[in-house]
Amino acid sequence: MWGRGRDMGIQGGYSGPGVFLCALFLLSASCRCSALELDANLAASLTVDATPQSSRKMPANMFGIDFEEINHSGAGGLWAELVSNRGFEAGGLSTPSDIDPWDVIGNETYITLSTDLTSCFSRNEVALRMEVLCDNGKANTCPTGGVGIYNPGYWGMNIEKGKTYKVILHVRSLGSVNFSVSLRSSDGLQSLASAPLISDALGFSKWTKVELLLQSGGTNSNSRIQLTTTKKGVYWFDQVSVMPLETYKGHGFRKELGSMLENLEPRFIRFPGGDYVKGGRLRNAFRWRETIGPWEERSGHFNDIWDYWTDDGLGFFEFLQLAEDLGASPVWVVNNGISKSDQVDTASILPFVKA
Ligand SMILES: *[C@@H]1O[C@H](CO)[C@@H](O)[C@H](O)[C@H]1NC(C)=O
Ligand SMILES: *[C@@H]1O[C@H](CO)[C@@H](O)[C@H](O)[C@H]1NC(C)=O
Ligand SMILES: *[C@@H]1O[C@H](CO)[C@@H](O)[C@H](O)[C@H]1NC(C)=O
Repeated sequence: MWGRGRDMGIQGGYSGPGVFLCALFLLSASCRCSALELDANLAASLTVDATPQSSRKMPANMFGIDFEEINHSGAGGLWAELVSNRGFEAGGLSTPSDIDPWDVIGNETYITLSTDLTSCFSRNEVALRMEVLCDNGKANTCPTGGVGIYNPGYWGMNIEKGKTYKVILHVRSLGSVNFSVSLRSSDGLQSLASAPLISDALGFSKWTKVELLLQSGGTNSNSRIQLTTTKKGVYWFDQVSVMPLETYKGHGFRKELGSMLENLEPRFIRFPGGDYVKGGRLRNAFRWRETIGPWEERSGHFNDIWDYWTDDGLGFFEFLQLAEDLGASPVWVVNNGISKSDQVDTASILPFVKA
C-alpha cells in the first residue's frame, strides 16, 4: 500500500499541477509548459484569506502518530523485549552460525558453543547447542561463577531496582540440569537478580518452556542476562525472552513510552513503517501475516533497510493492540508486492495483501 501508493502519488502529483498551470496560461495567452521558455522576471502573488469566517476547523482525526522502524525504534525501543536475537536466528540457517550479540562465558577448556537446526519451532529452526566440558568436583573444575552465555540486549539492558522481569526460555538437555539464570552488570560482576534452573535427567529431555520471575535488587542501565552452570553436560537453548513484568496496559510496550504516546492524544497510529515495510529487496520486506500468532513461532526477517535481524515479536498484532490501547485508529500498512528494487506482477499481489 505504502510503496506502490506513494510512488504513484508522486508521479500523479507532477502531471496534475502541470495541466492546471497550462489551463491558467491558456486564459491569458498561449500555453507555455516548458520551464526554459519562462520569463526570468516573472512574479507571482498568492493571497490567503485567513479571516475566521472563511476558516475551517481541522478535524481531530487528522492528528496522529506515524511510527517508523528506525534503528531499533521498535524492538529495542518502544517494544519492551530486552533480548536481541532471542531465537539465535540472526546468523542465518547455515549452521554453526553467528550468535551475536550473544557471547560465551568461559573458554574452550570449559565450554563449546554452536548452533544447529534442532529447535522445536519449525519456522525458526536454529537453536543454541552448549557443551559444558568442566564439572565441579572433577579434574576439570569450572571457573567460579560458572560458564555459559550472556546477551547484552540492545546497547545493554536497563534493569531497575525493585522491578520484576519475566524470563521465558526453551531448554533441552541430555542429562540433569543445574543452571543459574541471572541479570548482571555488563562485566558480569554485579548480580541484580538470579533464579535457579534445575531438573533431574528426565525433566528437560524434551524441549521444555520455562518461565521465571526475577526481581531486581539493584539498578544498572547496562546489564545483561546470563545462563551459567558448573555442571558438565550437553544443553540446548532457544527463544530466550526477558521483559519487564509491567508494560503499557500489560501488552508488552514500554510503560513510560506508552504513556508518552497516550499523552499526545493521537487519533490514529500508522504502522509499522514506510521503507521498513517495503524492504530494500522484496525477499526482506515486511510480511504482515508472518508477524502474528505465538511469538516463538514467528519466522522473523532481515530488515535490510537498517541491516539488522528482527524476530517480529513486535508484529502486526501488537501494533493493532497498541492502537486499541491508545484509543487511536489503526492506519495499517502492508507490503503489496513491491520493494525498493523489485516487485511482483500486478496479477500476483493477492497473496501479499489477502487476510
Ligand atoms: C543507532 O543508535 C545507536 C545508539 O544510539 C547509535 O550508536 C548508532 O550509531 C545508531 N545507528 C545508526 C545507523 O544510526
Ligand atoms: C582458559 O582459561 C583458563 C583460566 O583462565 C586458563 O588457564 C586456560 O589456559 C584457558 N584455556 C584456553 C584454551 O584459552
Ligand atoms: C546447583 O549448583 C549450585 C552451584 O554450583 C550448587 O550450590 C547447588 O547445590 C546445585 N544444586 C543442585 C540441586 O545440584
